[in-house]
This record gives sequence, C-alpha cells and structure tokens, in this order.
Amino acid sequence: MRDIPEQGSLPAYCIEAVHSVQCSRSYRMESAQLCLCLTGRTLDQNLKTLEKNRNFIDMAELRADFLDPDERSHLNRFPALAGIPLILTVRKDADGGQFRESESIRREILSRGIQGNYRFVDLEGDLDDISLEETIRQRGARIIRSIHAFDGIESLAAQKIERLRRKPDDIPKLAALIKSTAELNQLIQMQDRLPEGDRILIGMGSYGTVTRILAGRLGLFLSYTSTAGAEAAPGQIDPETLDGIYRFHRIGPNTAVYGVIGNPVAHSFSPGIHNPAFSRLGINAVYIPIQVDRIDDFFPLAERLGIKGISVTIPHKQTVLAHLRSRNAAVDATGACNTLVRSDSGWHGENTDVGGFLAPLAPHIKELSGKRATVIGAGGAARSVVYSLRKEGCSVLILNRTPSKARDLALAFDCRWGPLNTKGVSQAASFNDLIVQTTSAGMALHSEEDPFPDYCFTGQEIVYEIVYTPPVTPFLSRAIAAGCHTIKGIDMLIAQADLQFRLFTGQPLQQDRNPGTGNDL
Ligand code: ATR
Repeated sequence: MRDIPEQGSLPAYCIEAVHSVQCSRSYRMESAQLCLCLTGRTLDQNLKTLEKNRNFIDMAELRADFLDPDERSHLNRFPALAGIPLILTVRKDADGGQFRESESIRREILSRGIQGNYRFVDLEGDLDDISLEETIRQRGARIIRSIHAFDGIESLAAQKIERLRRKPDDIPKLAALIKSTAELNQLIQMQDRLPEGDRILIGMGSYGTVTRILAGRLGLFLSYTSTAGAEAAPGQIDPETLDGIYRFHRIGPNTAVYGVIGNPVAHSFSPGIHNPAFSRLGINAVYIPIQVDRIDDFFPLAERLGIKGISVTIPHKQTVLAHLRSRNAAVDATGACNTLVRSDSGWHGENTDVGGFLAPLAPHIKELSGKRATVIGAGGAARSVVYSLRKEGCSVLILNRTPSKARDLALAFDCRWGPLNTKGVSQAASFNDLIVQTTSAGMALHSEEDPFPDYCFTGQEIVYEIVYTPPVTPFLSRAIAAGCHTIKGIDMLIAQADLQFRLFTGQPLQQDRNPGTGNDL
C-alpha cells in the first residue's frame, strides 16, 4: 500500500453486513441518541427523509429555518406525522442557520410550533423570553440551550457556559467550528465546565468528527446526523455510516477507542476494515478517523479518550517517532511508524507496512532470497518496500524520477539505482522477477500517469502496485495486458490492517467462519 491520503469509497468486499447486527438493549441504554437533522424545504420532504433513515436514528431535529414560509403554519402537526421524538429549532443565520427574518417572527414560529408535541426546543443561550420558556415547559418539552461558535473556540471559552442550564431539566449544548487538533482538545475539556446531567458537545468541521462519532463514549446526550448533501452543519456524518460502520448505538462509556490519524483522513478505508472486525468478534471497541495537524496535540487527546491503538498515515509516520517509548526493528530501519499501541509505560511503535507488503507476495514467490526486483520510487513508501525486500535477501534496483534520491536510498540498503528513463529500462531488464510501483503516479488525482512508460513488460514479471485508488492504475493495466501476475494495493492495505488488528486485539482481522468458502472481507 502506498502511503497516500486514503480516498474513495470503501470497496464492497470491505463492508461487512454490519446492518444486520442489532443493537442490544443494554448498549442502547448507555449510548447517545442519534438525531437526524431535517433540512427539507417542505414537511413532506422531511417526512420522506425521516422514513428512509428511521432504522438508524432515535430522534430528529426539525430545522424550521430551512422550511418554506407557507409550511410554518403546519409545524404543530409534524410531530404526530413523524412518530419519533423531535427537536424544534429555528436557527438564525448568525448561529449557522438559514433564518433571516425578525426575532419576533422567530419567536412566533416557536410558540406556534410548540403547540405540537415536540419533545425538545432548541433555544440559543442569549435568548431571554421567560414566557416562551414557560410555554415550552408547560407543554412538557425540554429546552436545549445552545451556543454556536463559528469564529473560534476562544469565543466559546469566554462565554458563561456554566450557566447554560437555567432549570434542572435543560440540556446545555456547545457547538464550535474546530480548526485544529488543539481546538478539539479545548472543546472536549469544556465538557468539564458544563453542569452534570444531559449535555451536548459538537465539534463542527473535519477536526470535530471525534465528537460526532464518540458521543456515547464522551457521555453526551446526542449527536446530530444528516443525509449526504443535506448537512445542517459542517462535518455531519450520514446516519447509515454512523450506525453501520461506526455502530454508533453500541458506543458507550466503556467502549475502547482505536483510530487512524492523518491529515486529511476523512476518507480513510481503515474504519470500514477495523469496525466490522470488532463487530464480528463482539469486541466493545470503535475505530475512528482523527484528523491531526500537529502530532504533539494528538497525545493529550489520546489520553483523554483512553485511546488504545492507532494507525498512522500521512503526514505523521515520521513525526510520531519522537513520542514512542519503544519500537520494533522495522521502525528503526525504515524511520517510519504506522502503528501505535498503548502500553502501561507509553506508546509502542511498529511498522506493519513491512509485513503487509510481504504477505500478498507469498502466494506468488515462495522464496524472495536470490530474486531480483525493481522498485519504482524512492520516497517513504519505497523505503519500507526496499527494507522488506532486502530483509528477505532479494537484490533490488531502485529507479526514481529524481535519481539522487534513488541513490541515497540505494546506499542505505545496499541496492543498485538509476533514473526512470531508457537507461532505467535497460537496468530493469535484469531486475525483473518483481517490479514494485510505489510512486503517486496513477493515484486518483494523477490517474492518467504511468511512472515508467518506456518499460515493456515481458509478461513474466510479478508486478506489485501499492497505490489502491484507483484499484487499477495505468501502469498495472499495462502489466495485466502483458499477462503478468499482478498484486493490487488493496491487498497490501488489508494485509497491513490485519497485522495492526492483531497488535490491537491479538486476533486476526479475517475470521474464517465458513471454511472453504473464503473469508469475510
Ligand atoms: P511516499 O512517502 O508516499 O512515498 P514521498 O516520500 O513524497 O511519498 O515520495 C513520492 C515518490 O513518488 C517519490 O519517489 C517521487 O519521485 P521524486 O523523488 O522524483 O519526487 C515519486 N513521484 C511522485 N510523482 C511522480 C510522477 N508523476 N512520476 C514519477 N515519480 C513520481
């Protein structure tokens, strides 16, 4: 697997039928509620959205600020039609909503809406309207008292959030646009300033994903979700993914937390690999993407969340080294760590890219010792590949667009080196038992590129492409056409994830539940 930002949708065979896993009552009782934000222009649209997602959610928030004005007069009828606990919200544009009319009209919409059976009404922290509040309480609804901060966590920290709960039954809610890992730490710490009881904490944006998935782990009352393309706030995750991949309703205070850190990391395949395996094994654990800008800021977060194991991807495979208490030989040799395991004494680092690279080769080459391989590329990913091959006694030629980098890597591991031109083509002719492509050429963003177009495959080579998005790059496609045996990047991704999962849990990722009929992935 090339060390790239993980992108694209999950391959179908990585998605276990986790939807079939029913939430047990005991888990549900300690998990947070999943609340679907309804942002349709009509009540009818909202009912349809609700119907499609009913199986994944516990409640819904009617965002009346998104409604066409002539729909407002029917607001009080909506709860009976919805048949699910509802929050009524009319969010002002200053607080991230769509409502741009007068404050008196907004209060009138709320007063009229509450004639219906809404269980909750969201009122902003700065809204003072005793009679509206009393009406809401008389109707038996609870008030969610919210503050939204889009202009930085500092503005939220400066507010009197301790006083958000005015009556014992109120639910304080803090929502802040989070722009760094440090800000995420600050937001999570603010939970301590909120009075005990039901409370809501939302980190908006890609750095805030942790709060959206881990609501149950953080002891929060709810997390908001929305369907793709209808997000009510930045960074919301769709209900099917939260329920199916992350098993939202199974996450409680005792759920063990694992994850992948990188930047960006939102589209990582890894949650779709590790979470179904936890589910199959009945392990009370969740694996989440954590966007990390400064590696130093990740470790306080890890402490707070009690994170037990982490996959590390770009750009942190090197920066993480300074934080390791211990490491294995592969980390020392490659200068890269892609797996962190928490022990009593601190973080232990491993590099499962090494074993993950070698595992898919085994069915193709019995003995690497004495074989001759060409590695295309001389970056971080190539370094792990070259180390793996040399460790197994394979002779290696490194070809790179920038030949001096190929030379430096070759010197470190006693290899041959050269450029990616016709000279490289003739050198590769005698290093062609195996050809490994490690560069970003052909990756999703540069998908037309072939890093070694002058090389003609004989059909005898084993060709290993460690890019996995797209599944077949132009380079691999030429190799397949020439009749070569080929290995795809997804095979390495799964193999290295298997090694990580063993480090995390002591068990293999793939469970052979039906011997003879293949594995679960
Ligand atoms: P990684 O850690 O994922 O390997 P890297 O260290 O930035 O990333 O290395 C990227 C590798 O891809 C380098 O070998 C780079 O070649 P240069 O050293 O000449 O930059 C190679 N690479 C990137 N784009 C390429 C392209 N279009 N054609 C050929 N090689 C390319």
